[in-house]
Amino acid sequence: MKKNVLITGGSGFIGKYLTAMLLEKGYSVSILSREKKENTTTVSYYTWDVTNQKIEEAAVLQADYIIHLAGENIADQRWTLKRKATIRASREESIALLYSVLKKNGKKLDGFVSASGIGIYGAYNGEGICTEETAAASDFLGVTCQQWEAAVAPIANLGIRTVKIRTGLVLGKNEGFLKKMLPVFKYGLGAALGSGQQYMPWIHIHDLCAMYIAAIENPAMQGAYNAVVADNTTNTIFSKKLAHVLGFALWLPNVPAFILHLMLGEMAVIVLTGRRVSSDKIRNLGFHFEFKDLEEALEDCLSK
Ligand SMILES: NC(=O)c1ccc[n+]([C@@H]2O[C@H](COP(=O)([O-])OP(=O)(O)OC[C@H]3O[C@@H](n4cnc5c(N)ncnc54)[C@H](OP(=O)(O)O)[C@@H]3O)[C@@H](O)[C@H]2O)c1
Repeated sequence: MKKNVLITGGSGFIGKYLTAMLLEKGYSVSILSREKKENTTTVSYYTWDVTNQKIEEAAVLQADYIIHLAGENIADQRWTLKRKATIRASREESIALLYSVLKKNGKKLDGFVSASGIGIYGAYNGEGICTEETAAASDFLGVTCQQWEAAVAPIANLGIRTVKIRTGLVLGKNEGFLKKMLPVFKYGLGAALGSGQQYMPWIHIHDLCAMYIAAIENPAMQGAYNAVVADNTTNTIFSKKLAHVLGFALWLPNVPAFILHLMLGEMAVIVLTGRRVSSDKIRNLGFHFEFKDLEEALEDCLSK
């Protein structure tokens, strides 16, 4: 019988790509969403209401694995105090709800894999390389990721293998960060941001989803793994390569940091800061990145 993977937030950017890859590999896929959606021939949809701690329990009870992607998008709105609380609650309370169903029913899984972010290492600029052993930072993103990962611990205490995927900037076709940048870059109006020296650890969506699948299939995987290509790309390098792939040279001066602060508020740290992040831990397990070259990754994402 096919193994079932339940993806929370499976209708988002990463979830859609992951669903297609899992189906291709012969898994059955269910998706937990806040909205009722029609089942398709290949995917079953279930609903939950995290705020009111309600869920269609069948989604969890039939799962062999859960991949937890759900959470308010961190870059969609300015970080007011209310928005910050919503970002955190959507991640922690959703895991708590899954935990309560697992515990109440004595349900075992072959694995629980949760998204996390390299934001755990903090919104700073620096030369040090962050490994999975690097201490979590005390700023908003650091604490958010720390609490997100801590919410997984009770599931591990049920005897379920848990993995956390600390994700860098995900590159995909007309999705995520590229979707936001392309309208400007396409017209030759792109520019590096701030000093441009901040590191931008990235990963192609294909490799990220392959990592999620490795996390469910490889029983040796446990704990946190950085999901980035560790090639020391800076914002200037990224902007130049994106412009080059689109067929022009970067000519505009960098967008000053104060303008980004005015436009984005505190959230500007997402684009103005960045650390070097190691991927040795996952590579030492034999994981192979298909896209290690930024230009090739961008060409793939921009191809029709
Ligand atoms: N994309 C990146 O570059 C990146 C980088 C680092 C980490 N991550 C993390 O990876 C995960 C998936 O990322 P993504 O890019 O696929 O995000 P996304 O496109 O924003 O999808 C996230 C999904 O979560 C669900 N969701 C949103 N708010 C929710 C709430 N309040 N309660 C319950 N579910 C909610 C939504 O599904 P429904 O509308 O169907 O409920 C949404 O489609 C996220 O946790 C994200 O923080 C992403």
